[in-house]
Amino acid sequence: GMAVQINPSILSADFARLAEEAQAVEGADWLHVDVMDNHFVPNLTLGVPVVESLARATDTPLDCHLMIADPDRWAPQYVEAGAGSVTFHVEAAAAPVRLAREIRAKGARASMALKPATPIEPYEDLLPELDMLLIMTVEPGFGGQAFLDIMLPKIRRTRELISKHGLELWLQVDGGVSASTIERCAEAGADVFVAGSAVYGAADPAQAVRALRTQAQG
Ligand code: DX5
Ligand code: ZN
Repeated sequence: GMAVQINPSILSADFARLAEEAQAVEGADWLHVDVMDNHFVPNLTLGVPVVESLARATDTPLDCHLMIADPDRWAPQYVEAGAGSVTFHVEAAAAPVRLAREIRAKGARASMALKPATPIEPYEDLLPELDMLLIMTVEPGFGGQAFLDIMLPKIRRTRELISKHGLELWLQVDGGVSASTIERCAEAGADVFVAGSAVYGAADPAQAVRALRTQAQG
């Protein structure tokens, strides 16, 4: 099968034991870190100082998903904190092209996220500026929500745009990704899979990562 990546989301981990929880998913490609600010989404998680500490606590690179207002102002600080990939939401960004270029110039992978009701088509011309596109398969804000099947056509159309332009960018899905939904996501064209409750809710998180990878490879 194709090259797939499994990124456990520490939103579903025990925040009092983040270092151990990061180490419990040995074999994961990236650690997905959900940053929420109580403004862009109705939930509050963690910020730059915690990302700095996490970057020191694990060898797994950090995939920071910023669900925050004014990412133009804050995203560069997450690169400086040690994130290897920084995702901002297009709905929140004032100048997405400038921001993606700044993230890349600072040395991280630049990624842009779309909420479920945000279409991909208006952003076709931006794709070459990005290293990854994130299609949310739940409304951002909380772990453990049900996967939105109605996002599958958007994943498929995005994969077609990536192919049409011959781009290298990765296509990530986030929200409700589990043993019962990951195959549909992979079949639609996703190649990077975020999983929170499906990994940290399992008795053996590292085994859950391996099982998801096997399923996604088809
Ligand atoms: C939701 C976050 C997700 C969340 C996914 O807003 O962006 O990363 O942790 O959790 P699950 O996999 O449980 O849906
Ligand atoms: Zn996320």
